[in-house]
This record gives sequence, structure tokens and C-alpha cells, in this order.
Amino acid sequence: MDDAGEIHAFGRSLRQESNVWSRGADDVFSRSSRDEDDEEALRWAALEKLPTYDRARTAVLAMPEGELKQVNVQKLGAQERHAVMQRVAWVGDEHERFLSKFRDRVDRVRVALPTIEVRYKDLEVEAEAYVGSRGLPTIFNTYANVLEGLANALHLTKNRKQKISVLHNVSGIIKPHRMTLLLGPPGAGKTSLLLALAGTLPSSLKLTGEITYNGHTMDEFEPRRSAAYVSQHDLHMGEMTVRETVNFSAKCQGIGHRFDLLMELSKREKEENIKPDPEIDIYLKAAATGEQKAEVVTNHILKILGLDICADTLVGNNMLRGISGGQKKRVTTAEMLVTPGRALFMDEISTGLDSSTTFQIVNSIRQTIHIIGGTAVIALLQPAPETYELFDDIILLSDGQVVYNGPREHVLQFFESMGFKCPERKGVADFLQEVSFVNFFVSSFL
Ligand SMILES: Nc1ncnc2c1ncn2[C@@H]1O[C@H](COP(=O)(O)OP(=O)(O)OP(=O)(O)O)[C@@H](O)[C@H]1O
Ligand SMILES: [Mg+2]
Repeated sequence: MDDAGEIHAFGRSLRQESNVWSRGADDVFSRSSRDEDDEEALRWAALEKLPTYDRARTAVLAMPEGELKQVNVQKLGAQERHAVMQRVAWVGDEHERFLSKFRDRVDRVRVALPTIEVRYKDLEVEAEAYVGSRGLPTIFNTYANVLEGLANALHLTKNRKQKISVLHNVSGIIKPHRMTLLLGPPGAGKTSLLLALAGTLPSSLKLTGEITYNGHTMDEFEPRRSAAYVSQHDLHMGEMTVRETVNFSAKCQGIGHRFDLLMELSKREKEENIKPDPEIDIYLKAAATGEQKAEVVTNHILKILGLDICADTLVGNNMLRGISGGQKKRVTTAEMLVTPGRALFMDEISTGLDSSTTFQIVNSIRQTIHIIGGTAVIALLQPAPETYELFDDIILLSDGQVVYNGPREHVLQFFESMGFKCPERKGVADFLQEVSFVNFFVSSFL
């Protein structure tokens, strides 16, 4: 069957489908709703006639007056843009429904979403630093350090910097579709491990060992495009609003490869004569192309993180009163969640947040990781029991070494076999932090 014939057949099947609905429920649906169904079916049939390239940019949009319009999402007028923003607003409110609908659409045409498996083997991170009085930043030391650095480079003198082991013999696998919790007392090396895995370890720290993403070593690709590291510290421009900050991040880092996915979906759906869900279709098109794409994704992320209430407030700094500390922390997270990175490394995102807000944020991330298939390692300081239960795997660090790396269900059993029993009425996460401290003290006295 040629293209035109195929489209007519599809239009006929859509009309027949709408007739079946209206016949079966004549007393329920009024004539006007039948007309609307017919009109929508006709609009979709017209859309199906377009070549794939145009179809990925054209959507059927319900205007506020109720009129259905075929619009090019790349060239929206002011009114159409407003209508699109209203039409996609539900995505932030009903994150889980959005993810399931998206997953359904992808599964129907058997498109496999990309996933990342991170493997790391024998990681050693070392720092070199002057200790004692030479470590003080005096004028004499500064000049002496520069001269000594030069002499060291020319092999004229011995390096008098002391080596500090930050991570020692750390190995493991981070699987996609699973949430990993990174626990450990302060100074255990959580930030160093996350930085190393995200490929953003500063050059002052020496890294040895192997890190691979789906079998590819770090020098074979650009890790910053695949991984997102959410810093423990908030660093923002105080004079920008929350929305501007997140939007700026989305525009600078790009919001991903969704257009390729959309083209593939459109192509396969046409081949298989499948009509996509209109709600999800307009969101994907609006978020993949056109001037509004960064804004659509920004609004979605702001809603998930509960930042919509302060979206137009200044971020602020020491001189300028702005959003609260907990909101600032969430802005730092939002800046990285808008990026295309599918491997998330989040460092103490809960500092300054109450347990219920932390739970909601971690739960949203969990839904995304489980349904879409991302990879996430999240370091948390004292997570509440309900937040702890959201994780699938645990990595417990102590003094730069891994104490436990495995499924959450087996962690208590493991420590019981080692002679450490979790007391009743004690949170497991708190118990694990304590155990790693005990291990640290025992190993330092042996
Ligand atoms: N550049 C450096 N020079 C010297 N020591 C360093 C350097 N970077 C990290 N360290 C040391 O490495 C250890 C681990 O640091 P890291 O920041 O990874 O700990 P952390 O587990 O993230 O701690 P926290 O929970 O307080 O954030 C610390 O003892 C720290 O002092
Ligand atoms: Mg840290």
C-alpha cells in the first residue's frame, strides 16, 4: 500500500474507532463530543500524511477556546506557545503518570532506551600536600613552594609533599534501573568517589584504576555529556531568579537527544499504524524542538523539586536576601537534572532539607530511574528510614575503603555475620554510619 492509501486507511480506522465509542455510549456522550472526536481524528489523519521530519515537529493542539489546531512546535506564536505551556503543565504534577505513558509509547514500538552501567576497578585516589608549618599559606611558603615545584620538575630536589590516600582499592558496579545509596562518615571519601565516577576529579588529585561506562574507558568519550555530578556546595549567581538559573543551565548544557528519539518513534509508529497518546505527544514535541524546549523542561524540573513556588524569586547571596537554604540546595539539584546526563551522581542533596521533602525528591528520582532506566548514586547524610527504603543498593565507605557494596536487603545479614547486630528501634542508615565509624577506629588501632 502506498503512503496516501495507508493514511486513508488509518483515518478510516480512527473514524471507525470513534464510531464504536459513540455507538456504545450514545446516551452518555453528546453529539458535540462526537463531533470533537471526529475532528480530532481528522486532524490526526492529516498529521499522519506529513513526512516523518515534519511530523516530529507538528502537533495537534487544543486552544483554550476549545478549537483544535495543527501547529508547528518550532514556530509557535505567542498564543500557541501559551496554550502549549498550559497543555504540558500536568507533566510536573503527575510525574509517575507521565513516565508510565512515555514508557508505554516507547515500548509499543519496541525502542530500547539507552542505559549506562558504570564499572570501577582498583580505584586509588591520592592527594599530595605540604603538612605542618609548610602547609600554612604564608608569603615565604608560597614562594618556596613555587621554587620547589620547579626544582622537583627538573628532578633537582626530592618531593617533600606528603601523600594522602583518599580512596584505596575501591571496586564495584553501578547498574542501571537501580538506585544506589552512598553512605559514610564525614571525610570517608564520598565526594572523591562521586567526582571520580563522574569524570570530574580535579587534577590536584591523582587517580589510578579503571572506570568504564558500558565498557568504554573515560578517554573514549566525553563523560560530562553522559554523567551529571550534583555538587555538595551551592554556587549560584545571586542576582538571577530560580527559573533563570535553571533555564540558563538547560540552555548551556543542552537538554538532550530527545529529538532523535522522537524521530525514531514517529518513524516506527507510522510503519505500524499506531496513533500516539496526544498528551505525551505534545510534551515530547514541545520539549524536543522549538524555542520553548528549555522552558518546558525547566518547568517540569521546577515542579518535581517543589521550586515552582519560588520560581521567580532571586536566588540571593550573603549581600542579597533571596530563597531559603533548602531551596538553594534544590536549585543546585535542578541545574543538573535538566541536563541530558543519564548517570546521576548526587552529593548530599538533602543537607538543609526536612525528611519529607528529601523523601519526595528521592522518590521522583527513583521513579525516573526505575521506569526510564537511568543510573543514580546518591550520597545522603542520615537518611530517614522511609528514604533509605527507596534504594536498591548500598555502598558503605569508611576511611577511603569500601566496607559494603551490595543489595540493601542483605546489608543487615552481612553485618550480623560479622558480629554487628542492628539494635531494635534503630534506623538502619544510622546503624551503618556507626558501624563504619567503629570499623575505622578498630582498623586505626590495629
Ligand atoms: N586536595 C586534597 N588535598 C588533601 N586532602 C584531600 C584533598 N581532597 C580530599 N582530601 C581528603 O580526602 C578525604 C575525603 O574527602 P571527601 O571530600 O571525599 O570526603 P566526604 O566523604 O565527601 O566528606 P563529607 O561527608 O564531609 O563531605 C578527606 O580526609 C579530605 O581531607
Ligand atoms: Mg563530601
